[in-house]
Amino acid sequence: MRVLIIGQGGREHALAWKIKQSPDVSQIFVAPGNAGTALEPGITNVNIAATDVPALLDFARIEKIDLTIVGPEAPLAEGIVDAFQAAHFPIFGPTQKAAQLETSKVFSKTFMAKHGIPTAAFATFEDKVLAKKYINDHPLPLVVKASGLMAGKGVIICENKEEALAAIETLLSDHQSEIVIESFLEGEEVSFIVMTDGIHIVPLATSQDHKRRDEGDLGPNTGGMGAYSPVAWVDSTLEEKILNTVIQPTLKALAKENTPYCGFLYAGLMISPKGDIHVLEFNCRLGDPETQALIPRLKTDLFALCWAATHSQLQNKCVEWDDRVAVSVVLCAAGYPGPVQTGDAIHHYKMDGDTAVKFFVSGAKSQNQQLMTAGGRVLCISALGQTVHEAREKALYWAEQVTWPGKFYRKDIGWRAVKRE
Ligand code: AMP
Ligand code: GLY
Repeated sequence: MRVLIIGQGGREHALAWKIKQSPDVSQIFVAPGNAGTALEPGITNVNIAATDVPALLDFARIEKIDLTIVGPEAPLAEGIVDAFQAAHFPIFGPTQKAAQLETSKVFSKTFMAKHGIPTAAFATFEDKVLAKKYINDHPLPLVVKASGLMAGKGVIICENKEEALAAIETLLSDHQSEIVIESFLEGEEVSFIVMTDGIHIVPLATSQDHKRRDEGDLGPNTGGMGAYSPVAWVDSTLEEKILNTVIQPTLKALAKENTPYCGFLYAGLMISPKGDIHVLEFNCRLGDPETQALIPRLKTDLFALCWAATHSQLQNKCVEWDDRVAVSVVLCAAGYPGPVQTGDAIHHYKMDGDTAVKFFVSGAKSQNQQLMTAGGRVLCISALGQTVHEAREKALYWAEQVTWPGKFYRKDIGWRAVKRE
C-alpha cells in the first residue's frame, strides 16, 4: 500500500514512523514533512504545502496513493477530505463541515449546548461592548477564547476584570470576528482521543499534556510543552462515562445532522474532583505532543486501523498498548510561544536515544546536512519507562544532550503523575 501523510510537525513524524512499521505499507510520502521524516529510511518528503489541496490531490493521482492520513487541522479546514472523497481517494479525517467541531469554537460550543454534551457555561460575542458587559455581569475567573484556529494560543484565562477586558480587545482585534467567553472550570485535564469510522469507536490510550510554557503549569498557553500516557486515574468506569456522555452523543448528533465524522476525534476534558466531566475543546486530529507519547506505546498496526476506519470497518477492532508509560518532552526555541529565532544549528540530534527513546522533529529543517531550528517547538523527545518518573528522566537526559542557542524545555512534564507515584 502507498500512503500519504499530510503535515509537517512532530505528530506527523511520529505517525509516519509508526505507519512505516506496517507490513502492508510499501511506500510512505509526507507532504511537506520535515527534517525528521526526511532522515527516516523508507519515508519520502514531498514539497507540497499541507493546505495546497489541488496539488495534494494531483500527487495522490499520479502516485496512486491508497490511503491519505491528515495530521493537522488546517487542511481539514480547507476541505481536503471533501476534495479527496469527491475524487474517490480514500482519506482518513473528517470533512470540512464535521471539522467545525475544532475550527469554530462558536460552532462546537453551540453544538454541545444543543445536544446536551457537558461543557462550561458560555456566551458568544462579535461585539466588544456586549462582551465587556458580560464580563461586568459574571463572576471571575472567566475564560476568553477566539472562535477560530489559533494554534492553541487563542485562549486567555482571566483572573480579574482588567485581564478580561484586555483579552476581549486582543482577540476581537486579532483577525477574529467572534469570541466565546466561558466560566472557569476546576479540576484536572485529560486528553481523550478516539478513532472512529462515524459509527464504531476505538478509544486510544489516555494522555495528559502541559499547555502552559513554564514549570508548575505557569506562563502563557502554548501548543503543548510535553505529555505522558497513560493517565492512571482514568479508570475503566470513568472511560465508560466519557464514551457515554461525550464521544457517543457527539458522533450520533453529527450523523443525525448529516455530518458523519470519520477520523481521530480528540476531546480535551476537565474532570472535576467529584468526577464530573466537561469538554474544554474538541480537536479533529491527534494531539501534539500527545501523539509522540501515544505512538511509542502503540503495539497495533496503525495503518490497519486507519484503513479499517476509512472503509467503515472499525467494528471489533482492538488496540494493544505497551504496559510501560511514555513521556514526551518538547524542546523549544527562545521566544516561544511568541516570535522565535530560527536558523540555529542543532547539535547532537539522534534518531533514537536508545531502544526506549525516540527523537521526533517538530520544527527543524535540514540545510547542507545540518539540522537547523525552523519553528517554536523544535524537537520532541519521547521515552518509555516503568514509571512516569523513570520515562521522564530518560527523556530529560537526551533533552540535555541536544543543543542550540536558546533551547528551553520543561523538566516537570507529568508532575501530577510523578507526585502520585
Ligand atoms: P482549549 O484550546 O479550549 O482547550 O483551551 C486551552 C487550555 O486552556 C485548556 O487546555 C485548559 O488548560 C485551559 N482552559 C480552557 N478552557 C477552560 C475553562 N473553561 N476552565 C479552565 N481552564 C480552561
Ligand atoms: N496538545 C494539544 C493539542 O494538540 O491541541
